[in-house]
Amino acid sequence: MEFGIVPSILSADFTRLGDQVREAEGAGAQRIQVDVMDGHFVPNITMGPMIVEAVRRSTSLPVEAHLMISNPEQYIVDFAEAGADVIIVHQEASPHLHRLIQQIKASGKMAGVALNPSTPVLLLEDILSLLDMALVMTVNPGFGGQQFIPEMLPKIKQLRTMLEQRDLHCDIEVDGGIQEAVVPLVVQAGAKLLVAGSAVYNQHESVVEAITRLRNAL
Ligand code: DX5
Repeated sequence: MEFGIVPSILSADFTRLGDQVREAEGAGAQRIQVDVMDGHFVPNITMGPMIVEAVRRSTSLPVEAHLMISNPEQYIVDFAEAGADVIIVHQEASPHLHRLIQQIKASGKMAGVALNPSTPVLLLEDILSLLDMALVMTVNPGFGGQQFIPEMLPKIKQLRTMLEQRDLHCDIEVDGGIQEAVVPLVVQAGAKLLVAGSAVYNQHESVVEAITRLRNAL
């Protein structure tokens, strides 16, 4: 079963961010994710378009901007111009999701929608055909280093079934608490892209050792 590792730079050493991104690219990462938090949609404040732009200049890999912010429609152009290839918004953050996806696509970028753990996948049903990616949060968003929520496994399977029944080729991504033991569970459930923060950027091993271990975890 094919899958890709998407390091989240939230856990990276920001004193040498460019090197940390290049190490991940060298180790076979599929994309790089930038976690944008506004202290309102989630109880944490992290980074904005400037960091997306810096990551953009550090790698040739696709860059995802995961917007855990309120009023995402106000910032799509900023993240597109900063160089994000995929812009991910939360279903819970926008009452006009169909229009927001159109806006992302009009900016020439791939569109992804993320669901918090308590949000059912059925809420994506009417826009699924427009998406390039659907992100199932496997922790409550806002912080790295949290425990994986196993109750999300049936949700991933349900989303995969919805896509297969409609013959849609939208990638399923999972994010939060992804560690070596969790990789086979989420991949067998249908995930193709696995976001990993603390499992990639930590004090125990190098980025190359960490990504190699995750990629060999099946
Ligand atoms: C949490 C973020 C995740 C986080 C993952 O809200 O969306 O991307 O950085 O970190 P780990 O892999 O440590 O759970």
